[in-house]
Amino acid sequence: MKQNQTLMALFPLFLILTIAAEVEGTKLFVFGDSYVDTGNNLNASSYKLPYGMTYPGTPSGRYANGRVLTDYIASYLKIETPTAYTLKNSSNLHNGINFAYGGTGLFKTLFDGPNLTVQIDSFEQLIKQNVYSKSDVESSIFLVNDGGNDYVAFAVKDRNLFGIEKFMKSLVEELSVNIKRIHSLGAEKIFVSLLPPAGCVPKISVVSLYHKCLDPLNKVSRNHNTMLLQVVEDLNKELGKPVVRTLDIYNSFQSAIETMQKNHKENSTLMNPLEPCCAPLKAGFACGNVDEKGNKRYTLCEKPELSFFWDNLHPSQNGWNSVFTQLELSLSQIIGGGGGGGGGGNLTIMELYYFSILILVRC
Ligand SMILES: *[C@@H]1O[C@H](CO)[C@@H](O)[C@H](O)[C@H]1NC(C)=O
Ligand SMILES: *[C@@H]1O[C@H](CO)[C@@H](O)[C@H](O)[C@H]1NC(C)=O
Ligand SMILES: *[C@@H]1O[C@H](CO)[C@@H](O)[C@H](O)[C@H]1NC(C)=O
Ligand SMILES: *[C@@H]1O[C@H](CO)[C@@H](O)[C@H](O)[C@H]1NC(C)=O
Ligand SMILES: *[C@@H]1O[C@H](CO)[C@@H](O)[C@H](O)[C@H]1NC(C)=O
Repeated sequence: MKQNQTLMALFPLFLILTIAAEVEGTKLFVFGDSYVDTGNNLNASSYKLPYGMTYPGTPSGRYANGRVLTDYIASYLKIETPTAYTLKNSSNLHNGINFAYGGTGLFKTLFDGPNLTVQIDSFEQLIKQNVYSKSDVESSIFLVNDGGNDYVAFAVKDRNLFGIEKFMKSLVEELSVNIKRIHSLGAEKIFVSLLPPAGCVPKISVVSLYHKCLDPLNKVSRNHNTMLLQVVEDLNKELGKPVVRTLDIYNSFQSAIETMQKNHKENSTLMNPLEPCCAPLKAGFACGNVDEKGNKRYTLCEKPELSFFWDNLHPSQNGWNSVFTQLELSLSQIIGGGGGGGGGGNLTIMELYYFSILILVRC
């Protein structure tokens, strides 16, 4: 049963994290994209105001007003957030390193930057230089959050919607190759994020005037996740032990958003969770943009701490906080049968049509 596989894949997450947290000197190594980047792309909008306004109070390269998933996981491990690779120096390596780079993916995306393979190359280099020992690596937690930008690039560049199943397969396969490589470098505890519900992201849900998430696009995420869960299960079987675990951010986004939608319906002064807090004034602008005179090309919501999404693509600190709370919750509820991101068969023509909305929305 799919459901059981999901439960198996999720159950020991916090057990492992808890055990790891009790071991002195646990490190966290992070790979992937803007959902987990904490400052690697010095030229990105995430280093411009109003990014970082809530935490640390000034732009820090995080794609949010404050903390992101990496920060919450580090905090759970009772360590400080590991340094961004770009900002590493001889004295800030003890918590691990964050290699994640906003805008990147497994394949070539719309943004330049190190793909997952190159990020792992950088990690391998440090092991070769004995910056981290074998036992450091063995006792560390690894987090991989990647793939979202690959779908955006596919939608914009390939435009061959009928190729999406094939693309999905090659993407998940590439992810699997990279996970195996991290394991071959000595990692014993690897967490891989599922994809969030793509149809809820403001850039997409704006076509419904932020009234609802577009389910056909959520289904792209669900199908990806089903495929990934299977690959992870096969991988663990192959390795003979549960090295790889999935982080079900699909269901945690979903339930955090649903709760906030319900609250918004009952009390309209509370924010619609699908509306971004930092919203571009018009198409082509983005959160953080200013014109030549320094005038803002975006608007800011009154209470960022009540938003779910910070900008058109990324959760706010409040959003990540509730997502992480859900991740914890799902652990205690898992016995009762939570979990998931269950698929739903192949994509239909109608759903592929909705996928093409991605193309329109990006341009
Ligand atoms: C950042 O921008 C500067 C100047 O525009 C450029 O020289 C540099 O290569 C860029 N760095 C990265 C990492 O893209
Ligand atoms: C290393 O980076 C940290 C920030 O992560 C900074 O506080 C510290 O001063 C730097 N140390 C050296 C030796 O450059
Ligand atoms: C990742 O980037 C490197 C360097 O640009 C490139 O050689 C490699 O083919 C890329 N990997 C994939 C899977 O696209
Ligand atoms: C609606 O939410 C606001 C902001 O949290 C709160 O101050 C207000 O009391 C709420 N109104 C009702 C009717 O619950
Ligand atoms: C989905 O499509 C693949 C081929 O692309 C096919 O082998 C498979 O049987 C289909 N699954 C369902 C549930 O229709």
